[in-house]
Amino acid sequence: MGPARRSDDGEVYLESKQQRYEQSYRELESVLEGIEDHVAVMATINCILKTNMEDFFWVGFYRVVDGALLVGPYQGTMGCLRIEFGRGVCGTCAAEMKTQIVADVHQFPGHIACDSRSNSEIVVPVTDKKGALIAVFDVDSTRFNTFDEVDREWLERIMARFFH
Ligand code: SME
Repeated sequence: MGPARRSDDGEVYLESKQQRYEQSYRELESVLEGIEDHVAVMATINCILKTNMEDFFWVGFYRVVDGALLVGPYQGTMGCLRIEFGRGVCGTCAAEMKTQIVADVHQFPGHIACDSRSNSEIVVPVTDKKGALIAVFDVDSTRFNTFDEVDREWLERIMARFFH
């Protein structure tokens, strides 16, 4: 990638999804230097991705608390509070510890509709350095078919970099 183009006032133009992730990753590396507190890391990841990425309508974390997923830091409209393992996209991600990419949430069995404007989503497992599941990271889009392997690769990389 060449140098980022800037407008007269210095704002960076972010053109591709790849560029938006590269820029977000750089910003996170810089602002999270020395920060290990999970809530601080979660809040900052939400902020930077919601600001830089396109179509991130809802971003946030559900933390593993008492054997279920409890809502954690997020940006967006009100999310449901508690999700059992195995339920909906987040619960499936937690139970299988595998990233879920859903092109049309209305076709996903047991999908939990917190906001009827969400049409596609990606949910990534978040593990600590010992490999234990501590949370899932959920992004919802109002467009169908928003997320692909580029999102999976970058979001998994971000979770590994800042929670391990
Ligand atoms: N879509 C999720 C529920 C959480 S919210 O969308 C904020 C699911 O089915 O797991």
